[in-house]
Amino acid sequence: MRLYVNIDHVATVREARRTDEPDPVRAAAAAERGGADGITVHLREDRRHIQDADVRALRAAVRTVLNLELGAAPEIVRIASRLKPFQATLVPERRQEITTEGGLALSGASRKIRAASERLTTAGIRVSLFIDPDPGTIDRAAALGVPAVELHTGRYARSWRRGDAALRALARAAAHARARGLAVHAGHGLTYDNVRPVAAIPEIEELNIGHSIVSHAIFLGMEEAVRRMRQLVDEARTP
Ligand code: PXP
Repeated sequence: MRLYVNIDHVATVREARRTDEPDPVRAAAAAERGGADGITVHLREDRRHIQDADVRALRAAVRTVLNLELGAAPEIVRIASRLKPFQATLVPERRQEITTEGGLALSGASRKIRAASERLTTAGIRVSLFIDPDPGTIDRAAALGVPAVELHTGRYARSWRRGDAALRALARAAAHARARGLAVHAGHGLTYDNVRPVAAIPEIEELNIGHSIVSHAIFLGMEEAVRRMRQLVDEARTP
């Protein structure tokens, strides 16, 4: 199981003062020392946390791999195509949202997604689509010819204390996506308390976790915060 650490909120703290600390590049290096398999950042159109210069610096400094989350806006797709991260995860993006609220619908209006996906693929970037764990949406993602999907775990994260319906839906979706030939990633709202059952789903090969790790890093440091999440994920995977 790959653990990719999303460090957007290191930049959120920096942007609260528009200064030069904390530095996302230092955070990425510490996350790698703690056992991250990859570093994830979201270059939002409103640049509320990660800036273009951060992505350039991370592209040069990250020793594992860089996973760039982005909306399908042509300006951002152009930047991604030029910087060539290892992976690009296309997400829906609305300016007013606090965080990415749902997955890509991939309904009739997915022309923009198709165009973005084709452009990124042509640039040699592995494309993943962030979608809800829904069989119809998974089929539409497979039809777009992408190699991977990231299943939105937000519903699970909101409801896991009240029963396992969302977990079962996630497990079914992961199996369905795998059967369609897609690599299965997952993320959003995963924490030290709720990650294990998701990490135990055998078809899921990559987790993207940000807010909870950065929150723990305030008290433990980034390296130790990642090490503890790494341990939980690895334990969940051990039979
Ligand atoms: N995956 C995707 C596609 C996301 O947009 C985000 C949030 O930026 C995450 C994972 C990480 O979510 P969280 O910060 O809740 O761990």
